[in-house]
Amino acid sequence: MEMKLKLFVILALTVGCLTVPVADKAAWLSPSTMTNSLPPLDGTNPPHAVDIAGKAIPESSTTQPDKPIILAKDSEDPKWGELSTPFDHAKHSTDVVHSLDGKTVTSCVECHHTEQPSAPKDQEYLKRFERKEILTAAQLEASKQPVKSCRACHFNSSSDETNEFPPKSVTYPKQMGKQPSGKLTNDVAYHTNCISCHEAATKRDPKLKAPEACRDCHKKIS
Ligand code: HEC
Ligand code: HEC
Ligand code: HEC
Ligand code: HEC
Repeated sequence: MEMKLKLFVILALTVGCLTVPVADKAAWLSPSTMTNSLPPLDGTNPPHAVDIAGKAIPESSTTQPDKPIILAKDSEDPKWGELSTPFDHAKHSTDVVHSLDGKTVTSCVECHHTEQPSAPKDQEYLKRFERKEILTAAQLEASKQPVKSCRACHFNSSSDETNEFPPKSVTYPKQMGKQPSGKLTNDVAYHTNCISCHEAATKRDPKLKAPEACRDCHKKIS
């Protein structure tokens, strides 16, 4: 009886000793000490965007976001990473006030530039196209061909690069007077798209509320 108890104690101690290093290893593997080896930010895990009801924006979808969305949720940037960017998809794609000239509703392909068969006039510098017909609300409804998130191609700078992505710099035609766009990571792509229209629209009508300053877009959103 005594012998059995002794054996049990020895056994318990041995198991105890063995579990200590395991526990230590688990602590060492915890996220707080692993910041240098976090998985790359792919835009979907964790999601880079959610709608205001909390639903994640997937890598591609056949339905337009029906609620305002919040972008830049997965940033690791030390200064801007805590902040997110609101974007009202419905207003930007149906309301003339949210357009360049204040008269013509912005076409889908103004933003979703790969969702058309070929380069439009004045955008001959675009090379990549993935849709047989120009994307419109009706074309989406009829074709049920998914639309890709910008982040499917415009990677976050901490993501692993491939030969193709993030897309390489675009050299604009001389008459546009624009600088080449640099490596088209997500910040460069969205900033070029969003801010260039906001600047032009505000120039046309200074009363518009189209944000151009960092903190007017990157905000604390609960
Ligand atoms: C002002 C720019 C802009 C316009 C105009 C616009 N979109 Fe979008 N759209 C976006 C952005 C930004 C997203 C979010 C993409 C992301 O998550 O990176 C989006 C998301 C989407 C999605 C969901 C994609 C996904 O990954 O879930 C669909 C579908 C879509 N748009 C279709 C359309 C259609 C159809 C039109 C025209 C009627 C249109 N969009 C007009 C900017 C725009
Ligand atoms: C019109 C709105 C708008 C303005 C103005 C704006 N940003 Fe952004 N910014 C965005 C959007 C949208 C993204 C990409 C979001 C995503 O990938 O989900 C972004 C991405 C970024 C990122 C990359 C985050 C990451 O790690 O993925 C940084 C850094 C950044 N912005 C900083 C700035 C700074 C600095 C300014 C001012 C000079 C600025 N932004 C102005 C909308 C804006
Ligand atoms: C299927 C991949 C893909 C998707 C999806 C995509 N892009 Fe691009 N983007 C590219 C490539 C490739 C280029 C370089 C030009 C070319 O080869 O067409 C580019 C270039 C750009 C440029 C620079 C050219 C210009 O017109 O000034 C901007 C800005 C841009 N993308 C914004 C966006 C935004 C905003 C979205 C989402 C609404 C988006 N992109 C979705 C692949 C993509
Ligand atoms: C083709 C032009 C155009 C593009 C592209 C565009 N916007 Fe706008 N946006 C506007 C205009 C114009 C307004 C001002 C509307 C007003 O004053 O009522 C606006 C207003 C806004 C506002 C203020 C709130 C609101 O919805 O009225 C935010 C935030 C915003 N845009 C974010 C973005 C982001 C983020 C992108 C890029 C993904 C973007 N916009 C792309 C034209 C554009």
